[in-house]
Amino acid sequence: MQAIRQQEPGGPLRVEEIAIPRPGPGQVVIKMDASPVNPSDLALIAGGYLERSYPFTPGLEGSGTVVRAGSGLFPRLRLGKRVACSPPHGGDGSWAEYMLTSAMNVAPLPSHISCEQGSMMLVNPMTAMAFIRLAREGKHQAIVNNAAASSLGKMLVRLCAGRGVPLINIVRREEQLATLKALGAIHVLNSSSNRFAEDLKKLARELGATLILDAVAGDQSSLLLEASPYGSTLLAYARLSGDPILTDPGSLIKEEKKIIGFQLGNWLNTKGLLFKLRFISKVKSALDTELSSQINRTFPLASVEEAISYYRQHMSDGKIILKIRS
Ligand SMILES: NC(=O)c1ccc[n+]([C@@H]2O[C@H](COP(=O)([O-])OP(=O)(O)OC[C@H]3O[C@@H](n4cnc5c(N)ncnc54)[C@H](OP(=O)(O)O)[C@@H]3O)[C@@H](O)[C@H]2O)c1
Repeated sequence: MQAIRQQEPGGPLRVEEIAIPRPGPGQVVIKMDASPVNPSDLALIAGGYLERSYPFTPGLEGSGTVVRAGSGLFPRLRLGKRVACSPPHGGDGSWAEYMLTSAMNVAPLPSHISCEQGSMMLVNPMTAMAFIRLAREGKHQAIVNNAAASSLGKMLVRLCAGRGVPLINIVRREEQLATLKALGAIHVLNSSSNRFAEDLKKLARELGATLILDAVAGDQSSLLLEASPYGSTLLAYARLSGDPILTDPGSLIKEEKKIIGFQLGNWLNTKGLLFKLRFISKVKSALDTELSSQINRTFPLASVEEAISYYRQHMSDGKIILKIRS
C-alpha cells in the first residue's frame, strides 16, 4: 500500500510503498477514505509532541471501511462497516491507504455523513461536547475560549448558542469577529486590540466566566488568568503559540485559581464503556448540525506537503482533507 512516512522528527514526509498491516486479536484494518490535517498532526510531525518510534505514518483520525477483522466480538461487529477511526497509541496513523487499529478506536458512521465530514468525528466534535459537559459539571456560568475561529471554536459557538451558555470568544484577527458573529456568537474579542485585557476582564467578571479554555498558552494564559474571576479554572488544551505558560502564582494563590490540562483521550479513559457509547451517539446526531466542520480544500495523499503548507496559511478557513480513496 501507499503510506506517508516520516523517517525522523521534523523530517520530510514522503509517499512510500509498505506492506498492508494484518490485524491481531481485538484489531481491525481499515481501508482509508479521508483524513484531515489537524494542529495536533503539525505538532506530531514537528516532533516532541508524543513519544514514538521512526519511521512512522502520521494522521490522528480519519474515515474508511473495515476490511479485515482480528479475533474478538468488537472486530467482528465492525467488519464491513464505514467508520470514523483513530490510530492506536504509538502506532502508525491514518495518512495511508490502510490503517491498523484497535476495534475500540472505530465508530460506525451514519449513512448520511460524507467520508470527509466523518473523518473529523473523533477529535473536535468529541472535545467540544466534552467542554460543554465540563462547564456544566463545574457549575461555570460562562466560558472563555481562545483561538476561537478554529473548527472546534465554531462548534463551541453553536453548542453554547443552542444551550444559552454565555461564551467569550477570543480571536486574533479583525475579520474573524464577523465570521463568529455570523455563527451566532455574541461576545467576540480581538486579542490584537489595545483594549483587549481591559475588555476581557470587565466581560469575564460581568458574566462570571470561570472556565477558561486555553489553546494558545504563552503570554495569553497569564492574561486570561489575570482577567478571570475568583475561583476560575484555566483548562490548557493546546499550545498553539509554542510557548510555555508563565504566570505569577500570586493570582492563583490569592484568588484560588487553577490550571489543569485536558487531553480528550485521557478524559475518555476515565469513563466507562456505556458512557462512551452514549457520548459518541450524541456526537453523531449533531455531526451535520452543531458539530459539523467546514471543509476548505481536499488534496490527494501524495500532495501532503502542499496540503500542510496551504493549511498553515488558512487555518481559520475550514479544514484541509487528504482524500485517500477517490
Ligand atoms: N487537547 C485535546 O484533546 C484537543 C482536542 C481537539 C483539539 N485540540 C486543539 O484545539 C485547537 C483547535 O483545533 P482545530 O482543529 O479546531 O483548529 P483549526 O480549525 O485548524 O484552527 C486553528 C486555529 O488556531 C489559530 N491559531 C494558530 N496559531 C495561533 C496562535 N499562535 N495564537 C492564536 N491563535 C492561533 C488559527 O488562527 P489563524 O487563522 O489566525 O492562524 C485557527 O483559528 C488546536 O490547538 C488543537 O490542537 C485539542
